[in-house]
Amino acid sequence: TRVFISRDMASVALGADAVAHAFADAGCEVVRTGSRGLFSIEPLVEVETEGGRIGYGPVTPDDAARILGGNHPNRLGDVAALPFFAAQQRFTFARCGIVDPLSLADYAAHGGWTGLDIARAAEPQAVVDTLKASGLRGRGGAGFPTGIKWQTVLDAPGGTKYIVCNADEGDSGTFADRMLMEGDPFCLIEGMAIAAHAVGATHGYIYIRSEYPFAIQTMRDAIALSADRIAPFTLEVRAGAGAYVCGEETALLDSIEGKRGQVRAKPPLPALAGLFGKPTVINNVLSLAAVPFILAEGADAYAKVGFGRSRGTMPVQLAGDVRHGGLFEVGFGITLGELVNDIGGGTASGRPVRAVQVGGPLGAYFPPSKFDLPFDYEAFTAAGGLIGHAGITIFDDSVDMAHMARFAMEFCAVESCGKCTPCRIGSTRGVEIVDRIIAARETEPARAATNDGTLGKALYSRAPDRIDVSLEAQTTLLRDLCDTMKYGSLCALGGFTPYPVLSALDHFPEDFGAAAPVTE
Ligand code: NAI
Ligand code: SF4
Repeated sequence: TRVFISRDMASVALGADAVAHAFADAGCEVVRTGSRGLFSIEPLVEVETEGGRIGYGPVTPDDAARILGGNHPNRLGDVAALPFFAAQQRFTFARCGIVDPLSLADYAAHGGWTGLDIARAAEPQAVVDTLKASGLRGRGGAGFPTGIKWQTVLDAPGGTKYIVCNADEGDSGTFADRMLMEGDPFCLIEGMAIAAHAVGATHGYIYIRSEYPFAIQTMRDAIALSADRIAPFTLEVRAGAGAYVCGEETALLDSIEGKRGQVRAKPPLPALAGLFGKPTVINNVLSLAAVPFILAEGADAYAKVGFGRSRGTMPVQLAGDVRHGGLFEVGFGITLGELVNDIGGGTASGRPVRAVQVGGPLGAYFPPSKFDLPFDYEAFTAAGGLIGHAGITIFDDSVDMAHMARFAMEFCAVESCGKCTPCRIGSTRGVEIVDRIIAARETEPARAATNDGTLGKALYSRAPDRIDVSLEAQTTLLRDLCDTMKYGSLCALGGFTPYPVLSALDHFPEDFGAAAPVTE
């Protein structure tokens, strides 16, 4: 009997290795796949039958005999038909969880290399035009049109050009890059080879965070296996060393060059002077992995899905206190509430959802009153937030939003590269201010009575005993600081930390000692 069991890091963390051993011991041929992406059914075992694969999950090693006998209570049937999967539009993750990630035969049998063959039969400009027509925007978070970035590199003078894949997926609550690299590595390789043809590059780098050892190994194996297929283009993996800021593109380039990862001032854009000073395409894993589909199926097939200027699909990642955490690839336009409540099934704790953070540690917090927001770059920007890398972290009503604001400042202080003052110093001052707010919200009535009205002067006084530590003064100071960080920081780390802080203040003022907003 042939069975399929994921070897994805998340599945292994949930016990997939022991389950795989049990089935091998029972005489099965075990094929290790990537993850399908729904963690509440992991470890998942799919048994090959004449009627297709039949899924069981979650399972333990002791379940092998009953599953092979066909009478296990956690029988799921056809996994693809489960509502969580049937509702998805899997353009990028079509093969993930189904194929053996390192089988070239599987990859080719499931449509692999079609996009590369089509691209190589076309002129580079035609490939760039296809990307532009698809409407694909940078999936790392900024949403810059990928076709325009490629055009800049194609038009840049100079013989040597590079393709760099940003796989330093540092946002908390995100895992799509990792899942793709572990579950369908040839898809990323094909996307990079297409990019190389489109702009005239001969060598590429995949920069993967060191916290992803499975992805690093899988990508290295996949590169070795597909070297002939992508020749003359060549690829290598570089492992990061644990700095969040190395996900910022210019710090990442410095890191590949062997320097300390520190943010470079832009301009020049990496597209014109990037790695080793050469024109460089630097794209996120998800942007590059979307490319084979676009070439194989055509720009229209991708662009016809979506919402407004956000075309195609987004692999949304549901994490935190959520019943059905996992990866849900869907066209833009689905609402935040549908994602959290209908797809995610609300909190795992069973308590009411109080806040969701969208876009990683630098993303805004939204209350359920904002759940009608459509998943769309522009709609989120207008609402004071960002989609980022499409990680959604869910919190129940036990969350203290002042502590979450403090965490944002603390995260920035720990991860700051130190190059600019608003981020390096502002984040530490931010932690102190939130600490004073947390202290003051307990004692505010007494404080208010002793406030002598010298707020403006005292606020900026150097003498600690003269600082006005009232809630009002400290909240004003926090907003002021956020303003300085937002407009004065060199990169998104310092510049975006105000999003979680200000959204917590705006939507959950009661946690900062103020009255709750009337609408909420
Ligand atoms: P950005 O807006 O400065 O640039 C976006 C991209 O477009 C860059 O690659 C830039 O070089 C390129 N670009 C801009 N103008 C161009 C032009 N005229 N021609 C060619 N290329 C051009 O944004 P940045 O600072 O690169 O990224 C910020 C984003 O990163 C945030 O939105 C945030 O969501 C995201 N982020 C993602 C993380 C993750 O783990 N994936 C972690 C932290 C932040
Ligand atoms: Fe470095 Fe922070 Fe400035 Fe970015 S904002 S360049 S991480 S100090």
